Amino acid sequence: MKKILSLLFIFALIIGVTGCENVETKKEQKNDKGGYTELNKDSKSLVLYFSATGTTEKVAKMISEATNSNIIEIVPKDKYISDDLNYNKDDTRANREMNDLNARPEIENEINIVQYDTIYIGYPIWWGTNPRIILTLLDNVDFKGKNVALFCTSGGSGIEQSVADLKEYNSEVNWLGGRRFSSNVSQDELQDWINSLNY
Ligand SMILES: Cc1cc2nc3c(=O)[nH]c(=O)nc-3n(C[C@H](O)[C@H](O)[C@H](O)COP(=O)(O)O)c2cc1C
Repeated sequence: MKKILSLLFIFALIIGVTGCENVETKKEQKNDKGGYTELNKDSKSLVLYFSATGTTEKVAKMISEATNSNIIEIVPKDKYISDDLNYNKDDTRANREMNDLNARPEIENEINIVQYDTIYIGYPIWWGTNPRIILTLLDNVDFKGKNVALFCTSGGSGIEQSVADLKEYNSEVNWLGGRRFSSNVSQDELQDWINSLNY
């Protein structure tokens, strides 16, 4: 009986230790700035996303799963509330920002991409292109020489204009192109896109 108990104890110990290792290497959490983060120190790819109402976030999490990438949400210092996003009114915050080529909404969280070779950047389409906060990201984080694939969600507009705009904004990035996904995209469709990327 004693032998069985000690065996059980050793078994429990092994499970416990392995469990702890997992916790240590893979951290899924709301980060201190309220953004969604999942980090594994060994990962070479990262999903970075901005999502005002959660649609792009859902796709971002699926891409992170399919590619085994870490994931970091781009958190605006001033969060967008629904009044800010009402594009039917002229003077709402999102419209003001999109009408101003120089608008650079501040990012709250620190974004470190040194460990990554490939980065997937996702965002909603606003007025046919990327929200200005993506330009803040490019201004503040050094993407030189990184492979960057873009993805977006939208009410129907494609990502092509945004891909062209971002290529023009920073030509030192190895842009891999981009794809628009609908909110109910399947894991297979995402996988096809990931497989098609040319590094
Ligand atoms: C200010 C603003 C402008 C938008 N402009 C477009 C647009 O030009 N074309 C389009 O198809 N959808 C447009 N949309 C819809 C969003 O792209 C779409 O709802 C997106 O999936 C939202 O993603 P999110 O939930 O991650 O923020 C716009 C939304 C907002 C708030």
